[in-house]
Amino acid sequence: MSTSDSASPAFRTLAELERAGAARVPSAVWDYIQGGAGEERTRAANREAFHRCALLPKLLAGVERIDPTTTFLGSSVAVPFFLAPTAYQGQVHADGEPGTFAAASEAGVLAVLSSLSSFSLEATAQASGESPRWFQLYLQPEFSRTVELVQRAERAGFRALVLTADVPLLGVRDRQAQEGFGIDAPVPLGNGPEFVSPARGPTREGTSYRLRAEAASDWGVLGKLRSVTRLPLVVKGVLRRDDARRAVDGGAQGIIVSNHGGRQLDGAPATLDVLPGIVEEVGGRAEVFLDGGVRRATDVLIALALGARGVGIGRPVLWALGADGGAGVARYLRLLTAELVNSMAQLGVSTPADLRPDLVRG
Ligand SMILES: Cc1cc2nc3c(=O)[nH]c(=O)nc-3n(C[C@H](O)[C@H](O)[C@H](O)COP(=O)(O)O)c2cc1C
Repeated sequence: MSTSDSASPAFRTLAELERAGAARVPSAVWDYIQGGAGEERTRAANREAFHRCALLPKLLAGVERIDPTTTFLGSSVAVPFFLAPTAYQGQVHADGEPGTFAAASEAGVLAVLSSLSSFSLEATAQASGESPRWFQLYLQPEFSRTVELVQRAERAGFRALVLTADVPLLGVRDRQAQEGFGIDAPVPLGNGPEFVSPARGPTREGTSYRLRAEAASDWGVLGKLRSVTRLPLVVKGVLRRDDARRAVDGGAQGIIVSNHGGRQLDGAPATLDVLPGIVEEVGGRAEVFLDGGVRRATDVLIALALGARGVGIGRPVLWALGADGGAGVARYLRLLTAELVNSMAQLGVSTPADLRPDLVRG
């Protein structure tokens, strides 16, 4: 394998990947990617929660073949991890979302497209192959605009809608404020300038502040969405058992336990810490996913052993995109998949279904 240099930013390890991304992505965009909210306690907690868990490998487990494939909401995928939705990928590399999605599709990996993509959802869909893709939805101030986005996603072949519900407004992001990314000037949006970006702050009305559409919504929004689409709904941003129950009662077929990578409410818990309670609450009525701080294949195994159906990865995908565009994402997915197969062999499991809580000591 070639070594890293400026012409060929090949990376072999996660540390090299992060360095390659940092070297190529403009510093304001890099701070936007890396940053969390406030003192970044929640961002750090996501990693610490994985570090507190030990894996207990099984010996002589009769593992001759490793099959990491699984299904997410009935669609076959090559691995139990997916690409979490992240905004503005055109700022990270000229290949943008079409580059990321082509690489994911080639690898059979599920990718979720942000409402705030740099390229349109149609252009991204066209660059993707047959592998499943989901669309992440931000509610728009007028429901008719939300419906427009939903219908476009449906027509473009996205197979599920991921409603992100944890952005009543953008979190308090000090690194972003210092660099001004998306704050001093709006960042161009691929789906059309009429769709609102959460970077817009609250508007003052007398003594109160008006927030974005999510803040004004209640769980009835799931019924409203169900009445305009047949796509399955996944609610992203769940951290409480009662919210998980409301999502499922409202017809969600999936839940993503997420604190937005520690970018929204600083002080929110690590996702891994709340996962087991939410899995118990949902009781198999919906598929439970998790994101936040998943970096190594062993993190994927820990989350699955504690009941996740799959896990989403945010920042490292952007490091890979920044390092070498779509080719970087393809390379990253190959490396992480190889690491996953290796770790499954070490742990003594041959399929994701073999992952049980007794394999983890928390
Ligand atoms: C740069 C960046 C942009 C993001 N944009 C979105 C977005 O548009 N919609 C969304 O639902 N989540 C967004 N997220 C959150 C991710 O989907 C995911 O929850 C988080 O990144 C997972 O944590 P990780 O980065 O530690 O893997 C974004 C995250 C990052 C880092």
